[in-house]
Amino acid sequence: MAFSKHHTRHSLSSLGRILALILLFSIFDAGAFLRAVPGAAPPAGSAAAAAPDSSPEPHQARRAIDRQAIHDPENPDFARLQSVDEATRRLPYDANGFPDWMRALREGRIDPRSDIQGKGGMEILDLDIVMKNTREMPYVKFPHLSHTMWLACSNCHPAPFKAKAGSTEIRMADIFRGNACGMCHDRVAFITFFSCSRCHSVPQPVRQP
Ligand code: HEC
Ligand code: HEC
Ligand code: HEC
Repeated sequence: MAFSKHHTRHSLSSLGRILALILLFSIFDAGAFLRAVPGAAPPAGSAAAAAPDSSPEPHQARRAIDRQAIHDPENPDFARLQSVDEATRRLPYDANGFPDWMRALREGRIDPRSDIQGKGGMEILDLDIVMKNTREMPYVKFPHLSHTMWLACSNCHPAPFKAKAGSTEIRMADIFRGNACGMCHDRVAFITFFSCSRCHSVPQPVRQP
């Protein structure tokens, strides 16, 4: 893996798994997700809660993670830990209140090494794959360029994806379970549940009645 140490934060995988059950898109109660902190499984149907939050409060994704309390505050060394905010202060943030790693990379704010000596380069491939099996959602655009800036081909080929467009059947439920795109998204890459439009970014052609 060509991951640098920058990508290890903000795993929301267990929450993601709960949320997978929710992709029923049915009855939706806008306030429902606000209660969906760990320990309180969100009610079915909260999928559309991914709408951007315009309030000055931190985004609900950020609040949910802040509340996960993965560290023991009683530990005497707790106070020595650098806070996430301090560590990421100079990085651009995304709409969910997390570092936008792609922007950080493109703007040169971070410069991850391709190997431990920092001598090698990355094998860059600029090839977008548009995936159209998305029902009512906009199509998915998978950008090789963004990924190959810090991942080797072997992270994805031949598993979990064959290097042939359209050969892998991907369902959101798989992604939320941590397969396909979900191997990394929701774990080291941006949070799936709150970022539908970052993957589903290509509008479907308007159907004539
Ligand atoms: C990390 C990228 C990514 C994110 C984020 C993402 N999706 Fe998807 N989605 C995909 C891919 C890939 C497919 C499969 C497309 C294909 O095979 O043509 C897909 C397929 C779908 C489908 C059709 C297949 C199915 O499982 O029903 C729906 C509906 C869908 N996504 C909804 C959503 C919603 C709602 C969100 C946000 C809560 C979301 N997606 C976030 C990548 C993503
Ligand atoms: C983060 C994952 C990821 C990485 C890294 C990655 N790919 Fe892919 N690649 C994909 C996905 C997803 C597809 C589409 C598979 C599908 O549609 O079933 C794909 C498809 C392809 C295709 C088929 C294109 C077509 O039109 O049929 C080729 C060729 C390919 N990749 C080459 C590469 C090479 C070379 C590298 C390294 C420089 C690379 N990929 C890195 C995920 C990745
Ligand atoms: C092997 C790990 C891995 C896999 C598998 C993977 N991604 Fe990513 N993806 C990343 C990383 C790392 C980033 C950059 C960090 C971030 O944006 O959070 C990223 C960023 C992205 C971006 C943002 C691109 C930009 O320029 O802003 C999109 C869109 C995306 N991925 C879609 C997908 C889709 C769709 C799939 C599945 C077909 C997928 N990814 C599979 C690791 C992965």
